[in-house]
Amino acid sequence: MSADHSALTFAGHVAVVTGAGSGIGRATAVAFAEAGAQVLGVGRREAPLKETAALHPRIGVLAIDVCGEGAPAEVIRTAVRRWGRIDHLVNNAGATAVMRLADTDEQTVTNLLALNVVAPSLLAHAALPHLRETSGTIINLSSTYGHRPMPGGAHYAATKAAVEQLTRSWALELAEEGVRVNAVAPGPTRTDVMLHAGLTPETADDMYAYERDRIPTHRIASPAEIAHWVLRMADPAGRHATGQVVTVDGGLELI
Ligand SMILES: NC(=O)c1ccc[n+]([C@@H]2O[C@H](COP(=O)([O-])OP(=O)(O)OC[C@H]3O[C@@H](n4cnc5c(N)ncnc54)[C@H](OP(=O)(O)O)[C@@H]3O)[C@@H](O)[C@H]2O)c1
Repeated sequence: MSADHSALTFAGHVAVVTGAGSGIGRATAVAFAEAGAQVLGVGRREAPLKETAALHPRIGVLAIDVCGEGAPAEVIRTAVRRWGRIDHLVNNAGATAVMRLADTDEQTVTNLLALNVVAPSLLAHAALPHLRETSGTIINLSSTYGHRPMPGGAHYAATKAAVEQLTRSWALELAEEGVRVNAVAPGPTRTDVMLHAGLTPETADDMYAYERDRIPTHRIASPAEIAHWVLRMADPAGRHATGQVVTVDGGLELI
């Protein structure tokens, strides 16, 4: 489960991780906690969040829909109320949708934009005063398909392309203030993301098998392998990197 970031690099830091009840978000919350940070894990469902919290005593949780009115500010207020500071915001909560142009429907487009673009923007906005005080970092989760075309998933790809441009633009805005903004762009990673998008387990397995064949290293990543790079981008020792999109996909983006 945990990434191999065992030294207490983040002792005294506070990290907010959205989507911490499963997948990459859970692995990131655990990795930060193991590396010394106090973590606020955020998601809609209380039960999986509690399972995440049970994995490490430095993980606290907040069940909230980040797309709800006022929710981003409430997330940030909660972390500051509990621990007095924020050093890292990980905009990880996200969703995908399998939707060809012929099947495009307004609600799906709106929902993808709300979760993958609007909520991370408002979370970053609310966190900014606190990140200025700590010379903190924002880590956004993109995807290989944020910079590669994705037939059958154009709107997902478009939201991740937006995330990459937010990352670069905010990085330039904030560079002189000492706040760094980077993105990690995973390739196919074994989580429940495709089930959450409505695929059956069989269809999701087929999709992962297809992707494994295409990926140059012929591996599907584990969530901990992605969390490793999220922590690397947050690490104060990496302070000269900002505005970068680090693709972690076994070379998929290269083909
Ligand atoms: N897995 C992959 O292959 C892959 C590849 C590239 C990029 N990514 C990106 O990596 C990130 C994490 O994905 P994952 O694979 O770990 O997927 P996941 O297991 O489906 O995790 C998404 C998390 O977001 C939370 N979430 C969804 N809607 C929310 C909302 N409105 N408010 C608060 N929390 C919400 C979910 O919990 P609740 O349902 O309880 O809210 C869930 O814990 C996403 O941004 C995804 O696009 C994943």
